[in-house]
Amino acid sequence: MKIACIGAGYVGGPTMAMVALKCPDIEVVVVDINAARIKAWQTDDLPIYEPGLLDVVKQARGRNLYFSTDTHKHVGEADLVFVSVNTPTKTRGIGAGSAADLTYWEGAARMIAACSTSSKIIVEKSTVPVKTAEAISKVLRRNCNVPEVQFEILSNPEFLAEGTAIQDLYNPDRVLIGGNEDESGQRAIQVLKSVYEHWVPSERIITTNLWSAELSKLTANAFLAQRISSINAISALCEVTGADVTQVAHAIGTDTRIGPKFLNASVGFGGSCFQKDILNLCYVCETHGVPKVADYWRSVVSMNDWQKARFVERMVGSMFNTVVGKKIAIFGFAFKKDTGDTRETPAIDVVHGLIREGANCTIYDPQVSETQMFHDLSLAKFQWDYPMSPTKADAKIKQSVDVHFDPYTVAKDAHAIAILTEWDEFKTYDYQKIYDNMVKPAFIFDGRNIMDTEELRRIGFVSFSIGKPLDPFVKKS
Ligand code: NAD
Ligand code: UGA
Repeated sequence: MKIACIGAGYVGGPTMAMVALKCPDIEVVVVDINAARIKAWQTDDLPIYEPGLLDVVKQARGRNLYFSTDTHKHVGEADLVFVSVNTPTKTRGIGAGSAADLTYWEGAARMIAACSTSSKIIVEKSTVPVKTAEAISKVLRRNCNVPEVQFEILSNPEFLAEGTAIQDLYNPDRVLIGGNEDESGQRAIQVLKSVYEHWVPSERIITTNLWSAELSKLTANAFLAQRISSINAISALCEVTGADVTQVAHAIGTDTRIGPKFLNASVGFGGSCFQKDILNLCYVCETHGVPKVADYWRSVVSMNDWQKARFVERMVGSMFNTVVGKKIAIFGFAFKKDTGDTRETPAIDVVHGLIREGANCTIYDPQVSETQMFHDLSLAKFQWDYPMSPTKADAKIKQSVDVHFDPYTVAKDAHAIAILTEWDEFKTYDYQKIYDNMVKPAFIFDGRNIMDTEELRRIGFVSFSIGKPLDPFVKKS
């Protein structure tokens, strides 16, 4: 069997590396229109940072795993074609700001149709609006000139999270496969199932109809994000009542019906998918005549926006209502630890908020380059592009932002530290030394609740953690 995967990004690359590792009998080729990305996959300097990924890639690359820009050849030869292209939020036209932009998906489908001389199973790996398979099927059928070629479409959404992608792929909670309910649909499901059965126990492989699989992916992300917004909403109440959000999360999480995961209050969720997928779900609801459902889910995103804004307000309010000309040290720019991904990272909003107030921000992140930070901060609107388009750093950003690769230098002479990513190394620093070199009163705003607040206060910091009782220094009463 030959597999081709269109899209060598955060999903296509790691997923296919795992398939190749576990299925030595299958040839797997990952193709992309982005030559720089493909070139990086062929080296040990992979285009994405993901713990354990290089090891998996190295075991299979050159054996049965290949990366190529020759999309036509490899897709043409494949029996199974995974489509793992980006499906960002539309930025213009009908549905701008919420609908999924399916330009890349449709482009991939047209390419498949053009180069297919044999029948294929097409696997939707990208997250797409429910009913996309129907549209793709029409594009494929009307654009393939070889009458005997048949396409069977399956939905096989990916549930990996960045930073833990390898363990998520190695030991998934479940694999979901949706297909047509007729005989050839069921046959195609069995073919894909046989690939996963090389390492995933069959009882963890769930099969459904196409629309259930497509909708389950959007629903899973909406539920996960909803938990974060729910605990973040409670964090605001904790701060004004003296309750501690960590204790509340623990207390409710021990109820087996609720469970303990995804209850970490934070500065807000980021990443390329939660916001995009909820907005996409809202758009699907609106176009299917259930706007009330859209309103319900949209509030998860607006709570997240409020949480990010609230964090900036808390910082400014604590620092005597002005941060003009003050140096603020930013610890962490990635949207979560163990990734260099900055898509929709809350750090962008927080840094923008601080700059608007007149602060100067100096940033440190162990995995994000200075170029990436200036690129993200300079764009008026977030854009998905790789490699990044040459963005001229905005003059105001250049003036107000600095990047250093030593956290002690970043914090030197700063009025405050804001922790925006939960990198483990942040917990290991010598905070006495950091405190000694800061302007007093020295503030620390922990947007990830990873620090020992009592210890920081003992050193002398005025310390704030999301959803924790306020430091007596900033308490109003
Ligand atoms: P990405 O932007 O990292 O990668 C997508 C790749 O597809 C890019 O390299 C792009 O050049 C390539 N591409 C686009 N059109 C192409 C075409 N016609 N031919 C060949 N290559 C093409 O995106 P990603 O983060 O890997 O996400 C891919 C999909 O998976 C999205 O729908 C996303 O919602 C979903 N998803 C992402 C994650 C995640 O953790 N990032 C997890 C689960 C699901
Ligand atoms: C998320 C889902 O967890 C994956 O199952 C899904 O496949 C993926 O989206 C996707 O569709 O792209 P990811 O965004 O990579 O994965 O990472 P998460 O661990 O979900 O974190 C998302 C954001 O929520 C991060 O900013 C994280 O810091 C934040 N978060 C997470 C919290 O603030 N609190 C929590 O308790 C958990």
